[in-house]
Amino acid sequence: MSKPLINLNAGDPDVEAPKCVKDAVMDAFKKGGNWTHYGGRDIPLNFREAVVDYYKIFGPEYSVDNVLPTAGSSAALYVALATILDRGDEILMWEPSYSGHYSLMRNMGVKMSVAPLREEDEFHPDVDSLQDYVTPKSKGVIICNPNNPTGTVFTKEELKGIGDVATDNDMAIFSDEIYLHFIYDNNEFTSTASLGFQDRTINIMSFSKTFSMTGYRLGYVIVPEMYLEKASTVQRLTAARPATFVYAGGIAALRSDLSYVEERRKAYDERRMYFCNAIDEIDGLHCKPFEGAFYAWFGIEDTGIGSVEFCDRLLKQENVSVRPGKNFGLNIDGYVRVPLVRPVPELEKAVERIENFVKSL
Ligand SMILES: Cc1ncc(COP(=O)(O)O)c(C=O)c1O
Repeated sequence: MSKPLINLNAGDPDVEAPKCVKDAVMDAFKKGGNWTHYGGRDIPLNFREAVVDYYKIFGPEYSVDNVLPTAGSSAALYVALATILDRGDEILMWEPSYSGHYSLMRNMGVKMSVAPLREEDEFHPDVDSLQDYVTPKSKGVIICNPNNPTGTVFTKEELKGIGDVATDNDMAIFSDEIYLHFIYDNNEFTSTASLGFQDRTINIMSFSKTFSMTGYRLGYVIVPEMYLEKASTVQRLTAARPATFVYAGGIAALRSDLSYVEERRKAYDERRMYFCNAIDEIDGLHCKPFEGAFYAWFGIEDTGIGSVEFCDRLLKQENVSVRPGKNFGLNIDGYVRVPLVRPVPELEKAVERIENFVKSL
Protein backbone atom coordinates (compact mmCIF):
# COMPACT_ATOMS: atom_id res chain seq x y z
CA MET A 1 0.00 0.00 0.00
CA SER A 2 1.33 3.44 -0.87
CA LYS A 3 2.24 5.90 1.88
CA PRO A 4 -0.40 8.53 2.80
CA LEU A 5 -0.08 11.78 0.89
CA ILE A 6 1.85 14.63 2.52
CA ASN A 7 0.38 17.65 0.83
CA LEU A 8 2.76 20.61 0.88
CA ASN A 9 1.54 22.14 -2.33
CA ALA A 10 -0.56 25.20 -1.49
CA GLY A 11 0.07 27.80 1.20
CA ASP A 12 -3.11 26.91 3.09
CA PRO A 13 -2.64 27.04 6.88
CA ASP A 14 -3.34 23.85 8.85
CA VAL A 15 -5.42 25.53 11.56
CA GLU A 16 -8.83 27.17 11.83
CA ALA A 17 -9.39 30.92 11.93
CA PRO A 18 -9.54 32.50 15.43
CA LYS A 19 -12.68 31.69 17.42
CA CYS A 20 -13.76 35.35 17.46
CA VAL A 21 -13.84 35.28 13.65
CA LYS A 22 -15.90 32.10 13.42
CA ASP A 23 -18.33 33.36 16.08
CA ALA A 24 -18.73 36.72 14.35
CA VAL A 25 -19.46 35.12 10.96
CA MET A 26 -21.95 32.64 12.50
CA ASP A 27 -23.71 35.43 14.42
CA ALA A 28 -23.97 37.60 11.34
CA PHE A 29 -25.27 34.70 9.29
CA LYS A 30 -27.86 33.81 11.94
CA LYS A 31 -28.96 37.43 12.34
CA GLY A 32 -29.56 37.66 8.60
CA GLY A 33 -31.09 40.95 7.54
CA ASN A 34 -28.38 43.31 6.31
CA TRP A 35 -25.75 40.65 6.88
CA THR A 36 -27.20 38.35 4.25
CA HIS A 37 -28.23 40.91 1.62
CA TYR A 38 -26.21 43.19 -0.64
CA GLY A 39 -23.50 44.82 1.50
CA GLY A 40 -25.16 48.23 1.52
CA ARG A 41 -23.22 51.07 3.05
CA ASP A 42 -22.90 50.42 6.77
CA ILE A 43 -21.38 46.98 6.80
CA PRO A 44 -18.53 47.72 4.43
CA LEU A 45 -18.14 51.03 6.27
CA ASN A 46 -17.48 49.25 9.59
CA PHE A 47 -15.14 46.94 7.78
CA ARG A 48 -13.27 49.77 6.11
CA GLU A 49 -12.97 51.62 9.43
CA ALA A 50 -11.43 48.50 10.96
CA VAL A 51 -8.94 48.32 8.07
CA VAL A 52 -7.95 51.98 8.43
CA ASP A 53 -7.39 51.57 12.20
CA TYR A 54 -5.46 48.34 11.70
CA TYR A 55 -3.18 49.59 8.94
CA LYS A 56 -2.05 52.51 11.14
CA ILE A 57 0.13 49.91 12.94
CA PHE A 58 2.40 50.08 9.88
CA GLY A 59 2.48 53.88 9.61
CA PRO A 60 0.25 55.24 6.87
CA GLU A 61 -3.11 56.79 7.62
CA TYR A 62 -5.93 56.39 5.12
CA SER A 63 -9.54 57.42 4.75
CA VAL A 64 -12.22 54.71 4.56
CA ASP A 65 -12.73 55.74 0.93
CA ASN A 66 -9.28 54.35 0.07
CA VAL A 67 -10.27 50.82 1.15
CA LEU A 68 -11.97 48.54 -1.39
CA PRO A 69 -12.95 45.13 0.00
CA THR A 70 -12.36 42.12 -2.25
CA ALA A 71 -12.93 38.37 -2.29
CA GLY A 72 -9.41 37.50 -1.12
CA SER A 73 -6.23 39.12 -2.35
CA SER A 74 -6.46 37.26 -5.68
CA ALA A 75 -9.36 39.60 -6.48
CA ALA A 76 -7.46 42.49 -4.85
CA LEU A 77 -4.55 41.84 -7.22
CA TYR A 78 -6.82 41.82 -10.22
CA VAL A 79 -8.55 45.07 -9.20
CA ALA A 80 -5.16 46.75 -8.57
CA LEU A 81 -3.55 45.59 -11.82
CA ALA A 82 -6.58 46.20 -14.04
CA THR A 83 -6.82 49.73 -12.66
CA ILE A 84 -3.40 50.65 -14.06
CA LEU A 85 -2.39 48.18 -16.75
CA ASP A 86 -3.65 47.60 -20.27
CA ARG A 87 -2.66 44.92 -22.76
CA GLY A 88 0.81 45.73 -24.12
CA ASP A 89 1.91 47.74 -21.04
CA GLU A 90 4.95 46.66 -19.07
CA ILE A 91 5.49 45.89 -15.43
CA LEU A 92 8.69 45.62 -13.42
CA MET A 93 8.81 42.59 -11.18
CA TRP A 94 11.25 40.14 -9.60
CA GLU A 95 11.87 36.46 -9.86
CA PRO A 96 11.43 34.23 -8.05
CA SER A 97 8.11 35.61 -6.88
CA TYR A 98 4.50 34.50 -6.37
CA SER A 99 3.27 32.34 -9.27
CA GLY A 100 -0.11 34.10 -9.29
CA HIS A 101 1.55 37.41 -10.25
CA TYR A 102 3.00 35.84 -13.42
CA SER A 103 -0.29 34.14 -14.33
CA LEU A 104 -2.20 37.41 -13.97
CA MET A 105 0.25 39.33 -16.16
CA ARG A 106 0.15 36.61 -18.81
CA ASN A 107 -3.61 36.60 -18.78
CA MET A 108 -3.82 40.39 -19.03
CA GLY A 109 -1.27 40.54 -21.86
CA VAL A 110 1.12 42.62 -19.75
CA LYS A 111 4.81 42.33 -20.62
CA MET A 112 6.97 41.37 -17.66
CA SER A 113 10.36 42.96 -17.17
CA VAL A 114 11.94 40.71 -14.62
CA ALA A 115 14.86 41.52 -12.31
CA PRO A 116 16.52 38.64 -10.47
CA LEU A 117 16.60 37.91 -6.74
CA ARG A 118 19.84 35.94 -6.57
CA GLU A 119 20.75 33.41 -3.93
CA GLU A 120 24.26 34.92 -3.65
CA ASP A 121 22.56 38.20 -2.62
CA GLU A 122 20.40 36.26 -0.16
CA PHE A 123 17.49 36.87 -2.53
CA HIS A 124 17.62 40.65 -2.09
CA PRO A 125 17.25 43.00 -5.07
CA ASP A 126 20.04 44.96 -6.73
CA VAL A 127 18.29 48.30 -6.60
CA ASP A 128 21.10 50.15 -8.39
CA SER A 129 20.39 48.30 -11.64
CA LEU A 130 16.60 48.72 -11.53
CA GLN A 131 16.38 51.56 -14.01
CA ASP A 132 17.73 49.12 -16.67
CA TYR A 133 14.48 47.15 -16.37
CA VAL A 134 12.27 50.18 -17.04
CA THR A 135 11.10 51.25 -20.51
CA PRO A 136 8.71 54.00 -21.69
CA LYS A 137 5.94 51.36 -21.57
CA SER A 138 6.48 50.53 -17.87
CA LYS A 139 3.37 51.48 -15.90
CA GLY A 140 4.06 49.83 -12.58
CA VAL A 141 6.26 47.77 -10.31
CA ILE A 142 5.01 44.87 -8.18
CA ILE A 143 6.66 43.94 -4.90
CA CYS A 144 5.80 40.89 -2.83
CA ASN A 145 6.98 41.79 0.68
CA PRO A 146 7.70 39.44 2.38
CA ASN A 147 8.25 37.50 -0.80
CA ASN A 148 6.60 34.20 -1.61
CA PRO A 149 8.62 31.94 -2.24
CA THR A 150 12.05 33.27 -1.09
CA GLY A 151 10.88 34.89 2.16
CA THR A 152 12.78 38.09 1.35
CA VAL A 153 11.81 40.96 3.66
CA PHE A 154 12.65 44.07 1.65
CA THR A 155 14.71 46.58 3.64
CA LYS A 156 13.79 50.27 4.00
CA GLU A 157 16.67 51.21 1.68
CA GLU A 158 15.54 48.74 -0.97
CA LEU A 159 11.95 49.95 -0.83
CA LYS A 160 13.14 53.56 -0.96
CA GLY A 161 15.24 52.74 -4.05
CA ILE A 162 12.28 50.99 -5.73
CA GLY A 163 9.96 53.88 -4.81
CA ASP A 164 12.40 56.42 -6.26
CA VAL A 165 12.59 54.54 -9.57
CA ALA A 166 8.77 54.34 -9.64
CA THR A 167 8.48 58.06 -8.93
CA ASP A 168 11.10 59.05 -11.52
CA ASN A 169 9.26 57.04 -14.17
CA ASP A 170 5.72 57.85 -13.02
CA MET A 171 4.89 54.21 -12.25
CA ALA A 172 2.36 52.81 -9.79
CA ILE A 173 3.67 50.60 -6.98
CA PHE A 174 1.73 47.41 -6.25
CA SER A 175 2.69 46.22 -2.79
CA ASP A 176 1.48 42.68 -2.05
CA GLU A 177 1.88 42.58 1.73
CA ILE A 178 -0.23 39.58 2.63
CA TYR A 179 2.53 37.96 4.76
CA LEU A 180 3.47 41.13 6.63
CA HIS A 181 3.03 39.62 10.12
CA PHE A 182 5.26 36.62 9.48
CA ILE A 183 8.73 38.08 10.03
CA TYR A 184 11.62 36.34 11.82
CA ASP A 185 14.93 37.11 13.54
CA ASN A 186 15.97 40.76 13.30
CA ASN A 187 14.12 41.47 10.08
CA GLU A 188 11.55 44.23 10.06
CA PHE A 189 8.54 44.74 7.83
CA THR A 190 8.27 48.22 6.26
CA SER A 191 5.17 49.41 4.50
CA THR A 192 6.20 50.84 1.11
CA ALA A 193 3.54 53.53 1.48
CA SER A 194 5.14 54.69 4.74
CA LEU A 195 8.30 55.84 2.96
CA GLY A 196 6.74 58.80 1.16
CA PHE A 197 5.15 56.78 -1.65
CA GLN A 198 1.60 56.63 -0.30
CA ASP A 199 0.20 58.61 -3.23
CA ARG A 200 1.29 55.98 -5.80
CA THR A 201 1.20 52.75 -3.75
CA ILE A 202 -1.66 50.28 -3.98
CA ASN A 203 -1.59 47.82 -1.07
CA ILE A 204 -2.83 44.31 -1.64
CA MET A 205 -3.97 42.64 1.56
CA SER A 206 -5.60 39.39 2.64
CA PHE A 207 -7.00 37.57 5.67
CA SER A 208 -6.07 34.19 4.15
CA LYS A 209 -2.67 33.68 5.74
CA THR A 210 -2.67 36.13 8.68
CA PHE A 211 -5.86 34.73 10.19
CA SER A 212 -5.90 31.32 8.42
CA MET A 213 -9.03 32.36 6.50
CA THR A 214 -8.26 31.03 3.01
CA GLY A 215 -11.78 29.71 2.45
CA TYR A 216 -13.54 32.86 3.67
CA ARG A 217 -12.30 34.74 0.59
CA LEU A 218 -11.65 38.08 2.24
CA GLY A 219 -9.09 40.72 1.31
CA TYR A 220 -8.87 44.34 0.23
CA VAL A 221 -6.92 46.89 -1.75
CA ILE A 222 -5.92 50.24 -0.32
CA VAL A 223 -5.93 52.63 -3.24
CA PRO A 224 -4.55 56.19 -3.27
CA GLU A 225 -6.64 59.10 -4.47
CA MET A 226 -5.36 59.32 -8.03
CA TYR A 227 -6.36 55.72 -8.89
CA LEU A 228 -9.51 55.50 -6.80
CA GLU A 229 -12.23 56.19 -9.34
CA LYS A 230 -10.99 53.61 -11.83
CA ALA A 231 -10.30 51.05 -9.07
CA SER A 232 -13.84 51.41 -7.68
CA THR A 233 -15.26 50.80 -11.14
CA VAL A 234 -13.13 47.69 -11.68
CA GLN A 235 -14.07 46.38 -8.23
CA ARG A 236 -17.78 46.89 -8.90
CA LEU A 237 -17.79 45.52 -12.45
CA THR A 238 -15.79 42.41 -11.67
CA ALA A 239 -18.02 41.47 -8.70
CA ALA A 240 -14.81 41.20 -6.73
CA ARG A 241 -16.52 41.94 -3.39
CA PRO A 242 -16.85 39.36 -0.59
CA ALA A 243 -20.05 37.78 0.77
CA THR A 244 -21.64 40.25 3.20
CA PHE A 245 -21.64 38.12 6.38
CA VAL A 246 -17.92 37.41 5.91
CA TYR A 247 -17.20 41.08 6.66
CA ALA A 248 -18.17 40.33 10.26
CA GLY A 249 -15.25 37.90 10.52
CA GLY A 250 -12.88 40.48 9.05
CA ILE A 251 -13.98 43.14 11.53
CA ALA A 252 -13.53 40.71 14.46
CA ALA A 253 -10.06 39.72 13.21
CA LEU A 254 -8.80 43.28 12.73
CA ARG A 255 -10.28 44.48 16.04
CA SER A 256 -8.74 41.53 17.96
CA ASP A 257 -5.55 41.83 20.02
CA LEU A 258 -3.66 39.93 17.27
CA SER A 259 -2.33 37.39 19.81
CA TYR A 260 -3.58 34.65 17.44
CA VAL A 261 -1.31 36.05 14.72
CA GLU A 262 1.71 36.08 17.04
CA GLU A 263 1.00 32.45 17.97
CA ARG A 264 0.96 31.54 14.29
CA ARG A 265 4.18 33.45 13.68
CA LYS A 266 5.90 31.50 16.47
CA ALA A 267 4.64 28.19 15.07
CA TYR A 268 5.95 29.05 11.57
CA ASP A 269 9.24 30.16 13.09
CA GLU A 270 9.70 26.80 14.83
CA ARG A 271 8.84 24.92 11.61
CA ARG A 272 11.19 27.18 9.63
CA MET A 273 14.18 26.44 11.86
CA TYR A 274 13.46 22.72 11.88
CA PHE A 275 12.70 22.23 8.20
CA CYS A 276 15.33 24.45 6.58
CA ASN A 277 18.15 23.04 8.69
CA ALA A 278 16.99 19.44 8.17
CA ILE A 279 16.78 19.89 4.38
CA ASP A 280 20.18 21.59 4.33
CA GLU A 281 21.71 18.46 5.88
CA ILE A 282 20.56 16.24 3.02
CA ASP A 283 23.37 15.59 0.52
CA GLY A 284 22.56 17.35 -2.76
CA LEU A 285 20.10 19.92 -1.30
CA HIS A 286 20.65 23.32 0.27
CA CYS A 287 18.34 25.55 2.25
CA LYS A 288 18.74 28.50 4.59
CA PRO A 289 16.14 29.71 7.10
CA PHE A 290 14.12 32.43 5.36
CA GLU A 291 13.39 35.97 6.61
CA GLY A 292 9.62 36.14 6.28
CA ALA A 293 6.39 34.48 5.05
CA PHE A 294 6.21 30.69 5.57
CA TYR A 295 7.83 29.01 2.57
CA ALA A 296 11.03 26.99 2.40
CA TRP A 297 12.79 27.49 -0.93
CA PHE A 298 15.50 24.91 -1.35
CA GLY A 299 18.15 24.36 -4.00
CA ILE A 300 18.18 21.08 -5.93
CA GLU A 301 20.74 21.86 -8.70
CA ASP A 302 23.20 19.26 -7.35
CA THR A 303 20.68 16.45 -7.83
CA GLY A 304 21.12 16.82 -11.60
CA ILE A 305 17.38 16.96 -12.38
CA GLY A 306 15.08 19.92 -13.02
CA SER A 307 12.42 21.10 -10.58
CA VAL A 308 9.42 19.72 -12.49
CA GLU A 309 10.96 16.26 -12.72
CA PHE A 310 12.00 16.49 -9.05
CA CYS A 311 8.43 17.22 -7.93
CA ASP A 312 6.79 14.67 -10.26
CA ARG A 313 9.10 11.89 -9.17
CA LEU A 314 8.92 12.82 -5.48
CA LEU A 315 5.14 12.58 -5.68
CA LYS A 316 5.24 9.26 -7.52
CA GLN A 317 7.90 7.63 -5.35
CA GLU A 318 7.21 9.10 -1.91
CA ASN A 319 3.73 10.65 -2.15
CA VAL A 320 4.91 14.12 -1.10
CA SER A 321 3.40 16.99 -3.08
CA VAL A 322 5.51 20.17 -3.43
CA ARG A 323 5.77 22.88 -6.11
CA PRO A 324 8.57 23.18 -8.71
CA GLY A 325 10.66 26.37 -8.76
CA LYS A 326 9.75 26.75 -12.44
CA ASN A 327 6.30 28.02 -11.38
CA PHE A 328 7.82 31.06 -9.68
CA GLY A 329 9.50 32.92 -12.52
CA LEU A 330 10.30 33.03 -16.21
CA ASN A 331 13.90 31.84 -15.88
CA ILE A 332 13.78 29.89 -12.63
CA ASP A 333 14.63 26.23 -12.11
CA GLY A 334 16.83 24.42 -9.64
CA TYR A 335 14.60 25.14 -6.63
CA VAL A 336 11.57 23.65 -4.94
CA ARG A 337 8.99 25.45 -2.77
CA VAL A 338 7.51 24.00 0.39
CA PRO A 339 4.86 25.87 2.43
CA LEU A 340 5.37 25.01 6.09
CA VAL A 341 1.66 24.52 6.71
CA ARG A 342 1.93 21.23 8.57
CA PRO A 343 3.08 20.58 12.15
CA VAL A 344 6.70 19.57 12.81
CA PRO A 345 6.01 15.79 13.17
CA GLU A 346 4.52 15.76 9.66
CA LEU A 347 7.39 17.87 8.34
CA GLU A 348 9.76 15.29 9.86
CA LYS A 349 8.06 12.60 7.79
CA ALA A 350 8.30 14.81 4.70
CA VAL A 351 12.03 15.35 5.27
CA GLU A 352 12.56 11.59 5.68
CA ARG A 353 10.78 10.90 2.40
CA ILE A 354 12.57 13.72 0.54
CA GLU A 355 15.88 12.25 1.76
CA ASN A 356 14.86 8.75 0.58
CA PHE A 357 14.00 10.20 -2.80
CA VAL A 358 17.22 12.20 -3.22
CA LYS A 359 19.28 9.12 -2.21
CA SER A 360 17.50 7.10 -4.91
CA LEU A 361 18.63 9.45 -7.70
C1 LIG B 1 1.88 36.66 -2.41
C2 LIG B 1 0.48 36.18 -2.54
N1 LIG B 1 -0.46 37.05 -2.93
C3 LIG B 1 -1.75 36.67 -3.06
C4 LIG B 1 -2.14 35.38 -2.79
C5 LIG B 1 -3.61 35.00 -2.95
O1 LIG B 1 -4.20 34.73 -1.70
P1 LIG B 1 -5.76 34.92 -1.39
O2 LIG B 1 -6.47 35.11 -2.67
O3 LIG B 1 -6.18 33.69 -0.67
O4 LIG B 1 -5.86 36.14 -0.51
C6 LIG B 1 -1.20 34.43 -2.37
C7 LIG B 1 -1.58 33.03 -2.10
O5 LIG B 1 -0.78 32.15 -1.87
C8 LIG B 1 0.15 34.86 -2.23
O6 LIG B 1 1.11 34.02 -1.82
